[in-house]
Amino acid sequence: MSPSWPSYWPPFLWGVATSSHQIEGDNQNDWTLWEEQGRVPEPSGKATNHWQHWPDDFALLSEIGVNAYRFSIEWSRIQPAPDRFDSAAIRQYRNMIAFLRQNHIVPVLTLHHFTLPLWVSRQQGVQNPRFAEWFRRYTDVVMNELGDLVDLYVTINEPMVLVVMGYLIRRWPPGKTGFRRALGVIDHLVEAHHDAYAVIKKARPNAWVGLAHHVIDFQPFNPRNPLDRMDARLLRYLMNRRVIRLVGTQQDFLGMNYYTRQYARWYRGLHPLTTRGGQLLTDMGWEIQPEGLETVVHDIPLTDRPVLITENGIATEDDALRQQYLRRHLTIVANLQQQGFAIRGYFYWSFLDNFEWAEGYRPRFGLVGIDYQTEERQIRPSAHWYRRVIEANRSRY
Ligand code: NOJ
Repeated sequence: MSPSWPSYWPPFLWGVATSSHQIEGDNQNDWTLWEEQGRVPEPSGKATNHWQHWPDDFALLSEIGVNAYRFSIEWSRIQPAPDRFDSAAIRQYRNMIAFLRQNHIVPVLTLHHFTLPLWVSRQQGVQNPRFAEWFRRYTDVVMNELGDLVDLYVTINEPMVLVVMGYLIRRWPPGKTGFRRALGVIDHLVEAHHDAYAVIKKARPNAWVGLAHHVIDFQPFNPRNPLDRMDARLLRYLMNRRVIRLVGTQQDFLGMNYYTRQYARWYRGLHPLTTRGGQLLTDMGWEIQPEGLETVVHDIPLTDRPVLITENGIATEDDALRQQYLRRHLTIVANLQQQGFAIRGYFYWSFLDNFEWAEGYRPRFGLVGIDYQTEERQIRPSAHWYRRVIEANRSRY
């Protein structure tokens, strides 16, 4: 059973999301090294320099009118060495969270969003059987320092994406491949979640704790080909559902990051195709398929848990298309609610344009645009539209 909905939370969390490495700037973690090795189009560098600009950025959150903000804290800042916790960094995160609370914005805290401190990555990172122990200690410190201000936690963001990109197809650090290793990494991430769940619940029994699961609407490339159909089923199981099952009841909500549909084609084995052709693609090369959100929500296990759409968004230079994307996905959310699914929050990815990992700075996901030369922010019309939607639906949800 999930804990009760804290009384200071609005009935529906209307939010936007970010992650530390993608916006803060000047981080020193495993990604920084990967970037220095030239594995990405450009290094993250100063990013949006949110670490300096956060007070102005948070004023923009109020301008957009969100009542919740999902962000991650950077483990490498908080614990730059095994026995060193950085009190200045912790203090800054505390100020940030307190500011959100004062402005009636529910903080949704992600503990791990893809990056690792260098001392962890130098010791085999998530592959090390001690990973869960290290993560538990970090979580414990976070709870002592920040836990009194936060009631909603995402322990680990997109475990399966981390595994595929870092440990199967070598596109992200640590650039490994191998099925057995990948399975071990999944186990370590699940173990780390379970341990962190226990630590958080001990400190704050009524906190809501879960993960953000990446879910894709896998469909057969050729629906008449039984092998494509089997392939799609297998991908849906391995990528969308397996971790949810492994984590089991120790998640108070199902966090789902939904972006697109992909096609399973037999001769490509388990390598799904991002498009079947003939569709309008986003700047990530992804199809816009709002109906897929409905399919994946119908397909998830543990349906007694409330659902938070912890991410959904589009990379595009065409802000009218962004608005349309947002509108069409919000319509699906409303349909799902009418069908009886307890969807209790929606977080647009992303609040700001940011560093899109292996793609660098080209994709523009933000409701707020960034000029990376001048660090100027510009609220896009889609953000104003979102504000009006939030205002209009404040009492409805
Ligand atoms: C999901 C990830 O959590 C986030 O880091 C990334 O930027 C978005 N998807 C867009 O690809």
